[in-house]
Amino acid sequence: MLRRLLERPRSLALLVGCQFAFVAYFSLGGFRNLTALFGRAAGPVFDYSRTHDVYANLSRLLPARPGSPDPARPLPFCPERSPFLVGPLTVTFSRVPTLEQIRAKNPAVQEGGRYQPPGCEPRSRTAVIVPHRNRESHLGHLLYYLHPFLQRQQLQYGIYVVHQAGNSTFNRAKLLNVGVKEALKDEEWDCLFLHDVDLIPENDHNLYVCDPWNPKHVSIAMNKFGYSLPYPQYFGGVSALTPDQYMKINGFPNEYWGWGGEDDDIATRVRLAGMKIARPPISIGHYKMVKHKSDKGNEENPHRFDLLIRTQRMWTQDGMNSLTYTLLAKQLRPLYTNLTVDIGTDPRAGRRAREGQRYRGANSLFREEMLRKPPRDAAAGWGDRALALSLSPRLPPATAQQPPAGNGTHGSAGAPAAPGITQRSPEAAGEGDGHPGTLPARGDNQSLPRGAP
Ligand SMILES: *[C@@H]1O[C@H](CO)[C@@H](O)[C@H](O)[C@H]1NC(C)=O
Ligand SMILES: *[C@@H]1O[C@H](CO)[C@@H](O)[C@H](O)[C@H]1NC(C)=O
Ligand SMILES: *[C@@H]1O[C@H](CO)[C@@H](O)[C@H](O)[C@H]1NC(C)=O
Ligand SMILES: *[C@@H]1O[C@H](CO)[C@@H](O)[C@H](O)[C@H]1NC(C)=O
Ligand SMILES: *[C@@H]1O[C@H](CO)[C@@H](O)[C@H](O)[C@H]1NC(C)=O
Repeated sequence: MLRRLLERPRSLALLVGCQFAFVAYFSLGGFRNLTALFGRAAGPVFDYSRTHDVYANLSRLLPARPGSPDPARPLPFCPERSPFLVGPLTVTFSRVPTLEQIRAKNPAVQEGGRYQPPGCEPRSRTAVIVPHRNRESHLGHLLYYLHPFLQRQQLQYGIYVVHQAGNSTFNRAKLLNVGVKEALKDEEWDCLFLHDVDLIPENDHNLYVCDPWNPKHVSIAMNKFGYSLPYPQYFGGVSALTPDQYMKINGFPNEYWGWGGEDDDIATRVRLAGMKIARPPISIGHYKMVKHKSDKGNEENPHRFDLLIRTQRMWTQDGMNSLTYTLLAKQLRPLYTNLTVDIGTDPRAGRRAREGQRYRGANSLFREEMLRKPPRDAAAGWGDRALALSLSPRLPPATAQQPPAGNGTHGSAGAPAAPGITQRSPEAAGEGDGHPGTLPARGDNQSLPRGAP
């Protein structure tokens, strides 16, 4: 029967054709990549001109009859999709809510900023870790929005604020390492959300759960970048990793003092550890940034290029396995857990004072260029697969223009290790210059894109 079928030339051609289509389908990465290839963004469409109050009907989430649950009858799992999601949220910063006001609006939040849904077993236990110093007003905005946001998603969660004690240069990545280590002492969290203090999610369909296979970059569409990704390897702002994924990349680097670079280092770690960057659809990963004025103690890191080149060599040695700090205090506040830590001082602080002047203002042209011309993949805004593909193993066009680190003599040798150009927000790291949209300088001056040899 089969043989007779195969003998007929037309059915044979059909069979071969099917096989070919099948192979082509999978070598192109299945359905999601096909849709990306043919120009249809994966992901639902939202109307951001019609937003909802994040507190709308929040009281419906409270248990109808408060009382201790019967231990003999385990709770059912929460539904796959929470019925309390409303989509785009109204986010404004006109006045800073006080902690008392936020507390009054979130009666179900427990000490230390903990919550669990009353009627069902949550599908994720998520720790939100926020590096912090001198950003009380931002923290107010973040807590005001994040608490009801997470409750709508029916998650069990806890919010940790990691406060860097002292006056030395801010070190975002190291604070996050500390937050992860301390949070995991409290609870077996399923998911770690590493969250800048000044980024507010604008859509509650942006679930604060982890991707089971890959580290997830979540703040994919920020208002300050015109709601698109500034460049494909961008990993700044808000990201989410399972504890396993976090350990697999040896956590974040401890050596990035000051503004910038550490997020590119992390993106490189993800790749070197054999994983890819997952992302939510761009229509969901909307974030609004709180504007603010500058502060001291977070100067741009003038050594970031040198450090990035070293990522490939150093990532297994610099990270969670080399983390040292002193926990000065752990306070369970009504809306968050305050971890106050001494993470030491920047060993190069003395040199920075002199070099900082020289580096500042040198390369803003290049950065602005990067912003004006977002790489094609990012501008198109496909789902995670397309972005992950462009991240590795080939270098995207943007990376080819990357200014070599240091003095430029070892640019080509270092390029494969460096994932790209950082467009990390100064505000997010606490280094605002008071002019949202203007980009601080970075790096050296010898290799602007047009002048690159
Ligand atoms: C809140 O609940 C009311 C009454 O059930 C409903 O009409 C309204 O659409 C809800 N609002 C939101 C934002 O869910
Ligand atoms: C930090 O700086 C403030 C203001 O500049 C100063 O009052 C304080 O003593 C400094 N603290 C330390 C530990 O150096
Ligand atoms: C955390 O605690 C430290 C020391 O107790 C305090 O200086 C800091 O203001 C606190 N931060 C927040 C956000 O509560
Ligand atoms: C940067 O390079 C350009 C062209 O080589 C030069 O004209 C300019 O003075 C340099 N700027 C700085 C800050 O070194
Ligand atoms: C440039 O970097 C190379 C390799 O790190 C070093 O050997 C060389 O001395 C540097 N040149 C200058 C001018 O800094």
